Amino acid sequence: MLYVLLLTHTPMKGIILAGGTGSRLFPLTRVTNKHLLPVYDRPMIYYPLQTLVQAGIKEVMIVSGKGHAGGFLELLGDGSAFGVRLSYGVQEKPGGIAQALSLAEDFADGEKVVVILGDNILEDSIAKAVQDFSAQEQGAKIFLKEVDNPKSFGIAEVDGAKIVSIVEKPKEPKSNLAVIGVYMFDGQVFKVVKTLKPSARGELEVTDLNNYYVQQGTMTFETLTGAWGDGGESFDSLMKASLLAQQWRQQGKLDKPIGAKEE
Ligand code: DAU
Repeated sequence: MLYVLLLTHTPMKGIILAGGTGSRLFPLTRVTNKHLLPVYDRPMIYYPLQTLVQAGIKEVMIVSGKGHAGGFLELLGDGSAFGVRLSYGVQEKPGGIAQALSLAEDFADGEKVVVILGDNILEDSIAKAVQDFSAQEQGAKIFLKEVDNPKSFGIAEVDGAKIVSIVEKPKEPKSNLAVIGVYMFDGQVFKVVKTLKPSARGELEVTDLNNYYVQQGTMTFETLTGAWGDGGESFDSLMKASLLAQQWRQQGKLDKPIGAKEE
């Protein structure tokens, strides 16, 4: 009985996707990885890592791109300072978010996973959603957030409690509900990635992956109430993310960053 209880309480594993070229932020990202850039008082990757840690995730894999992968290891080490066990993977070429995710297949070992993009900065805790998804029989779960610039994101068309479809960076958006870069998938996900075809921009798109679950009727969603920033979208979004983090620090919502100089 105790054994069964322990099994059902094993926390989900987390995956942070931190590959890509960061070319939208050139020259800032010529000699470093986008996710190592400062967002107020800490490197960008601290935020998604903190979101996972706060949700009770104990094992995290970071998938980075080639070139600056060593920086993550030097900064985060084995993860013990953050209360997690970290492992690392390298995406040889920026083949898209879904392609980066495919590198975590062995790590996931057939279990449900929480995936977060390395440039996403959230005010809200995802702990309750992670718990809910643990109890969800199958499928996937995403988060939606109203945005002013829907042409820059994956945009969901929603009918009541159901997502009808998601379109990546639509020319004519059907709503202003962006799919943020936090996804929860069941064990089917790696099988589904293998069926995806590259998009017009040559990438395996997370939106195609999400639409598989939408069509299967197993996609659930939550609407984010707190602030959300995609720090890697543009110079302005990077600055906005820093301003958000500064506010959270001043309001006491963020602790001093791990590794900061002792006073
Ligand atoms: O931030 C939310 C948006 O993120 C979603 O609304 C979109 O549906 C989704 O496609 C994504 O759009 P972006 O244009 O922001 O994706 P971007 O190319 O900036 O990649 C986001 C992160 O994903 C990046 O910080 C690292 C990771 N990534 C990306 C690519 C293309 C990889 O790890 N490998 C990759 O090959």
